Amino acid sequence: MAGSAPASASNLAMPLTLGSLPGSEASIRVDALGHELRDRFTERPELPGLVVVMDDGKPAGLVSRRRLMELFSKPYRVELYSARSARTLLKEFGGEPEVFAEDMLIDDAARVIAQRAPEDFSDPVIVRRHDHSLQVIDSQVLFSALAQGYATQYRELQLAQESIIENEKLASLGRLVAGIAHEINTPLGIGITAVSAIIDEEAKLSEHVDSGAIKRSDIRQSLSDIRQLGETAQRTLDHAAELVRSFKQVAADQTSETRRTFDLGEELGHIANSLSASVRKAGFPLRLVEGEAIEMDSYPGAITQIITNLVMNAALHAFDHRAGGEVRIDYTRGRPGQVEIRVSDNGKGIAAEQLERIFEPFYTTRRGSGGTGLGLSIVHNLARATLGGSISVHSAVGSGTRFTLQIPLSS
Ligand SMILES: Nc1ncnc2c1ncn2[C@@H]1O[C@H](COP(=O)(O)OP(=O)(O)OP(=O)(O)O)[C@@H](O)[C@H]1O
Ligand SMILES: [Mg+2]
Repeated sequence: MAGSAPASASNLAMPLTLGSLPGSEASIRVDALGHELRDRFTERPELPGLVVVMDDGKPAGLVSRRRLMELFSKPYRVELYSARSARTLLKEFGGEPEVFAEDMLIDDAARVIAQRAPEDFSDPVIVRRHDHSLQVIDSQVLFSALAQGYATQYRELQLAQESIIENEKLASLGRLVAGIAHEINTPLGIGITAVSAIIDEEAKLSEHVDSGAIKRSDIRQSLSDIRQLGETAQRTLDHAAELVRSFKQVAADQTSETRRTFDLGEELGHIANSLSASVRKAGFPLRLVEGEAIEMDSYPGAITQIITNLVMNAALHAFDHRAGGEVRIDYTRGRPGQVEIRVSDNGKGIAAEQLERIFEPFYTTRRGSGGTGLGLSIVHNLARATLGGSISVHSAVGSGTRFTLQIPLSS
């Protein structure tokens, strides 16, 4: 390879010009003879080619090392061509010399070269510097710089993409944490207010007792107030604790789950049994459609949690106390190595604009009546992170909702 090695990858972040590539200054006059050209190549083994120039210094053509050596490869030709002038030799090679400006981008130069005949591909490239000197650049140098430039750009794009994904993860974690803080703030605030009211009430009561001037009915009233405040504190703190428990599940990690082999139908049977009582109370049957025996090696706890959340959601959101509702669980082998479990209801369905949001943490249409909106985000997280699968939903207003869980047989 001619000259020094091509520029290193680290300084290729900026678009490269031909001028930044190492080249050799090498020209020879048109009336030089064939053997002089050959001698020049022998003296300077790094030269990829010679620019043949006219008397006025204008380039008349390019003689590449490879082509000249080919010409001189047979003894009879040595004699023939040694005495020919460079001008005549150029006729053998044909073509006008292409001279590139030094500030041309190597990408653009490569495109021009690629459009020429393929046999010219390995020919050196003539570059005119700003000082009008002519340089010859080895095409290998040019193409390897181009390849390195693309490799660097590709790597930079990959890094940018990775950092976009990381940022998105951080942003959604930030939203989650902000949401948790917001949600927990209300019950904690109420709990704290109730507890300090209890303390005040107790101080008032003690004062009255000490002064001796207190009626039995006043004591009753105070105790009743204290009890009510205590109940409020307990209820709201329980709710806060529940939120924290849910939050821990949103962040569920695989290692804390027990993994074992089990038959899917049997496991779903246990789950359906344990749910049927509470579902019956809501006034509709839960039906498990028996399928073929499917052995799994996975996390039954996560599957239980998912099915429970989906069935309880149907119970809570799908029917609005209307009769004739049914929730159905069925399962089949899905794609190879996968299983598909479906939980469907024939309830009121979910409108398209809500459907987009139901897996978001804290999205609920039941705020104020016990909904935290974490149920489906836990389902989503368990399906993906713990079970290595996915969950999707199909629903239309008036025609029910179907959740489809797709998970590998062995997670
Ligand atoms: N089967 C269903 N039919 C109709 N709407 C549903 C159904 N399942 C979920 N939804 C809607 O999706 C919303 C989000 O569900 P998600 O389980 O995340 O929260 P939630 O049930 O409201 O509260 P949480 O589960 O935390 O107590 C619900 O509020 C409800 O509007
Ligand atoms: Mg729910």
